[in-house]
Amino acid sequence: MTTSSATKVVIVGGGPAGTLLSHILDSHGIDNVVLELRSRDYVLGRIRAGVIEQGSADLLRKYGVANRMDHEGFSHEGVNLAWAGRLFRVDFVGLTGSLVTIYGQTQIQRDLYEARDAADATVVFEAENVTLHDLDTNRPSVTYEVRGERQTVQCEFVAGCDGTHGTSSSYIPAELVKTYENVYPFGWLGILSETPPINDELIYANHPRGFALCSMRDPLLSRYYIQCPLDTDLEAWPDDRFWEELGKRLPAQVAETLVTGPSIDKSVTPLASVVREPMQHGKLFLAGDAAHVVPPTGAKGLNLAISDIYHLSAALIEYYESGSMAALDCYTERALTRVWKAVRFSWWMTNLMHQFPGEGAFALKMQEAELGYLASSTAAQTALAENYVGLPF
Ligand code: APR
Ligand code: PHB
Repeated sequence: MTTSSATKVVIVGGGPAGTLLSHILDSHGIDNVVLELRSRDYVLGRIRAGVIEQGSADLLRKYGVANRMDHEGFSHEGVNLAWAGRLFRVDFVGLTGSLVTIYGQTQIQRDLYEARDAADATVVFEAENVTLHDLDTNRPSVTYEVRGERQTVQCEFVAGCDGTHGTSSSYIPAELVKTYENVYPFGWLGILSETPPINDELIYANHPRGFALCSMRDPLLSRYYIQCPLDTDLEAWPDDRFWEELGKRLPAQVAETLVTGPSIDKSVTPLASVVREPMQHGKLFLAGDAAHVVPPTGAKGLNLAISDIYHLSAALIEYYESGSMAALDCYTERALTRVWKAVRFSWWMTNLMHQFPGEGAFALKMQEAELGYLASSTAAQTALAENYVGLPF
């Protein structure tokens, strides 16, 4: 049996991009349905990054989903770079007047689901075989199955917010898509541990043994990463080995203060930049990881998903308020202008901080010179700071 319903916008994917879009559209009276492949517990169990740009935080505040973030998150007014046994700080507030908030993506996701619950919104979990139809007509529709029952939703637009492994992006005809890709020959081995963070602010370290990052979620929950080969076997990395290797990659006086403990999560993340153009076709609009991926250096992934939703929600609101397709027609251009700048920043920071297998002495000298320049130049630090806290939407 097939059950039919109708809405204005079907949102495929209930990650941060999809749920935020649903919340914003709803606050403007635009009816929508979110279809999420996984269960709510599964989505909330995923460990992701946790650096929120000033503009992202302000958008969450504007739509009333930042209360917990403002109480439990941490304002970071700067970031630290370590190399050659030294540490220097880039002062975000002093250089740009803005800061970042440390608050896990998982928490943002929980806040967004709770806001959706409060509004009695339709978020369908465990929606399988989501299939898009008639995207180049005025009557698109989406079919899916929940617990074996087939459903059809008629709609006016489809937002593809289903991440890197989603289905939506495959509906843009291949001959119209240009893919730009840069895959790195290494990954990050990351752990989460219930230990106090090594420092009040993040530390990004360039070291001959490989990159390291000291991050955190709260005063008793630390997140650490070390650069690793792509074929790294987690079994070969018991906690003791991880802590020892991390310590070796940090300046000695910093490493001395490292508090170690058992990890509660351990994983390897490959690093890549991928951008697919265009981000729209007919009545389909892609946002977030469904359209682009950045390496985690600089923590831009979640923030780009939020800035896409800023542009897509504004364009849909304009359409429903005035009937004009103008902003929707320009969506790809508006979203990608900002996306490319963040792709550039995360590429620059990745190149600056990692060891590249097979690269010679010249490349190392270039990193050394650039880090020396950064440490001594206010202009260079301002460029880092304004990108890190987030360029304007
Ligand atoms: N049908 C429905 N939902 C799907 C499908 C599908 N075929 N495929 C994937 N999904 C869901 C995933 O289960 C996930 O919950 O889409 C959601 C996409 O969410 P994210 O991967 O979190 O992507 P996005 O919302 O764009 O947020 C980007 O997440 O991956 C991080 O680094 C990234 O922080 C960035 C942020
Ligand atoms: C994290 O805390 O998980 C994190 C922080 C900064 C990054 C990437 C990840 O650049």
